[in-house]
Amino acid sequence: MSRRRQIYEGRAKVLFEGPEPGTLVQHFKDDVGGSDGGRRGTIVGKGVLNNRISEFLMLKLAEIGIPTHLVRRINMREQLVREVEMIPLLVVMRNVAAGELSQRFGIAEGTVLPRSIIEYYYKKAELGDPLVAEEHITAFGWAGARELDEIVQIALRVNDFLSGLFLGVNIRLVDFRLEFGRLYGEDGAQIVIADEISPDNCRLWDLRTNEKMDQDRFREDLGRVEEGYQEVARRLGILPDGGPGDFKAPKTMQ
Ligand code: CDP
Repeated sequence: MSRRRQIYEGRAKVLFEGPEPGTLVQHFKDDVGGSDGGRRGTIVGKGVLNNRISEFLMLKLAEIGIPTHLVRRINMREQLVREVEMIPLLVVMRNVAAGELSQRFGIAEGTVLPRSIIEYYYKKAELGDPLVAEEHITAFGWAGARELDEIVQIALRVNDFLSGLFLGVNIRLVDFRLEFGRLYGEDGAQIVIADEISPDNCRLWDLRTNEKMDQDRFREDLGRVEEGYQEVARRLGILPDGGPGDFKAPKTMQ
């Protein structure tokens, strides 16, 4: 790991130069939090779980023809991805009111939305990732109108597909965030899903009890944080046999 050139380091992930041109290695860390001055910390084993969960979900999306940057998982904490030109947007799809939406509009957390809502945030940490309208995106050139169309179509398909997939394992997909990039090929640029899809950027609640199984367990100091991530992986049928010291025995959440 030490000899590879590091391209980027964020709170939860590190990107290294990949083995071939046009590829990167995405390394998943256990660190969490810190955005908007929130709690920071470490969730032991989270990186391993997110690596597996994100791989699993992105492979499922690829099976139904939704393009992602994932090439393949390399090891417990790393995956090989295609290098893309990132679009500076956080695209949030919401099915149930929670988080910022609840605060902004005074809607009780847990209220089922009359229809799924898509929101865009400009990805600029210094500005606190502000909510933006389509007009800002096209006027400031963050994405073109056709690209934004494509992003909306992909986000809606992902929402339908993942909502059903999680429902099948008794999990409610409350909301989630996607990031997109441009993948340059012979026929020009294609919009693909980048980053990760994991309990770090999805709200996942137990269907029956509404118990949270995502990063909110950490942010709201609910305890049993790693167990929440483990339970998501267990229900998806992908809990690994266990890395060295990374896992406690999985517990069933009530
Ligand atoms: O999570 P928070 O209340 O700060 O913001 P939100 O807009 O309600 O978050 C909606 C969804 O996007 C949640 O699943 C968050 O985990 C995710 N999100 C994210 O992954 N990264 C951010 N910078 C902000 C939100």
